[in-house]
Amino acid sequence: MKKTISRRRFFNQTIGVSAGAMILPLTGFKFQDKGKAIRPVIITSHTNDTGKNAMETGWEILRNGGSAVDAVEKAVNVIELDPEDTSVGYGGLPNEDGVVQLDSSFMDGKTYSAGAVGCLENIKTPSSVAKLVMQHTDHVLLVGAGALAFAKAWGFREENLLTEKARKIWLRWKEDLSPDDDWGVPEHLRNLKSSTSYWKDFPEVEHHYGTTNVIAIDSNGDIAGCTSTSGLSFKINGRVGDSPIIGAGLYVDNEIGAAGATGRGEDVIKSCASYYIVLMMKAGRTPQQACEDAMQMIADRYRKVNPDYLPVEKFVAINKSGETGCAMMKGTRKPAMSVRTENGYNKQEGNIVFPDK
Ligand code: GLY
Repeated sequence: MKKTISRRRFFNQTIGVSAGAMILPLTGFKFQDKGKAIRPVIITSHTNDTGKNAMETGWEILRNGGSAVDAVEKAVNVIELDPEDTSVGYGGLPNEDGVVQLDSSFMDGKTYSAGAVGCLENIKTPSSVAKLVMQHTDHVLLVGAGALAFAKAWGFREENLLTEKARKIWLRWKEDLSPDDDWGVPEHLRNLKSSTSYWKDFPEVEHHYGTTNVIAIDSNGDIAGCTSTSGLSFKINGRVGDSPIIGAGLYVDNEIGAAGATGRGEDVIKSCASYYIVLMMKAGRTPQQACEDAMQMIADRYRKVNPDYLPVEKFVAINKSGETGCAMMKGTRKPAMSVRTENGYNKQEGNIVFPDK
């Protein structure tokens, strides 16, 4: 009988080093058992310049043989620290009281560990706090004052997260909210053609569920992911969205892949969307198909209740082989995601599942 040798054994024997000593990209790739090379990759739902910078930061760690956990954390930090981004971390839009409350979750597929924070105030990088919850507690989710105390115990400094830009957007939202409250110009000046609003030249209020997902596969084939957000802008004080809920805003399974969600968190929580996407990939669906399956599943739930209702959602996913997918529930512009591999940066388009809505 012909003796076969797995590519992994062949690789290790030929090169004469242990698998752990092989570091990309200087010497080549490690191989999974089925003979497929493990190619590190990092993705994010963010496609602006900051998202691209985040990918370069994460890639540099992966390229040097660093872990998916470290690559993901450092990449998310880049997005969280961008003061111009009104959906994540520092500069995020506040709740209805003008207070920035951040949510984030972290999951490490290698150790099947997860950590998260909800309603965290005054800390610019909630993802790093979520990572510490994951690595240094026996809990998964800390919220509010407890999450802040935990962060301070780890040496995080309290800082004002409300940028001038975010504060002005919030003030405009407050003044525009209702003609029946007392915010805005005095009553006798309202509706006068001659009255010039302070907000005349100010851009339209952004009101959104913006969030970021970052997921990486390292040179050992281990997968980690993080979701971070300032949540729904002008939310009710104390509202927690899907981002810090494991299985909703994020899920990682080292044997299958990972998924993350942005969009209306309430629906992502009810549908356990990220977990659903990973289960669909386990059942053999591609990441693209699995993201679209999750959209269909959510739409099906509403069909009987209110057929005209479809929440705004965007999902990204990656499988163990590094295939990626991205889908959006509705809209006019195709959804996209950032993908960084040894071949460079690539903005990859996905599909709108209900383009007619
Ligand atoms: N997906 C972010 C949120 O709903 O808070």
